[in-house]
Amino acid sequence: MCKWFTRLYDTLMEPLERRGFREIRKNLVRKAEGKVLEIGSGTGLNFPFYEKAEQVIAIEPEPLMREKSIPRVTAARVRIEVISAGAEDLPFPDNSFDTVVGTLVLCTIPDSYKAMEEIRRVCKPDGKVLFFEHVRLNHPVLCRLQDWLTPVWKRLCDGCHLNRNTLELIGQIGFEVIRVEGYARDLFLVIEATNKK
Ligand SMILES: C[S@@+](CC[C@H](N)C(=O)[O-])C[C@H]1O[C@@H](n2cnc3c(N)ncnc32)[C@H](O)[C@@H]1O
Repeated sequence: MCKWFTRLYDTLMEPLERRGFREIRKNLVRKAEGKVLEIGSGTGLNFPFYEKAEQVIAIEPEPLMREKSIPRVTAARVRIEVISAGAEDLPFPDNSFDTVVGTLVLCTIPDSYKAMEEIRRVCKPDGKVLFFEHVRLNHPVLCRLQDWLTPVWKRLCDGCHLNRNTLELIGQIGFEVIRVEGYARDLFLVIEATNKK
């Protein structure tokens, strides 16, 4: 993990948050119900928007990110616990969660396929997954540009891949996609799906 990236994360995100991300997070995260798992919660930018969740367990492998999220845990309206874990090996029994939330995270997790298999395992049958992710563009030239930029981008932005086809992955793993909404010419997608087991 690049320490500078973690330290500057909220500052770097603020212009995007102001220009729409905050509203997107709010509209997505407020749908989380029951026992909720959040994957790679970072500095806790989603924490203010949980309304109906009974309990949120957030996993975040980076200690400095976890530390920076503490004020948002304290200020949240629902009970949130942040623990150290990676999404590829979730320390929870099968069928533990009603909702799984992930924002801007499937781009960074080293093995996103394994992570999605784990998410499917711990999510209850008919449980929901709520994602907000940037994805590989469906454009013949721009997607090549994303492929070309990704090796450098990954180094600068803490392992972030610009070119992951996350929507395809979610369907491939066995979730039924029920809603997709695109932003910035579909560079960013809100994806809601249910777990068909
Ligand atoms: C771009 S940040 C997004 C943080 C937050 N979800 C948000 O929306 O602001 C990506 C996060 O994924 C976390 N991460 C990296 N590898 C991970 C893994 N294997 N499992 C879970 N989270 C991981 C990083 O530590 C970082 O906090």
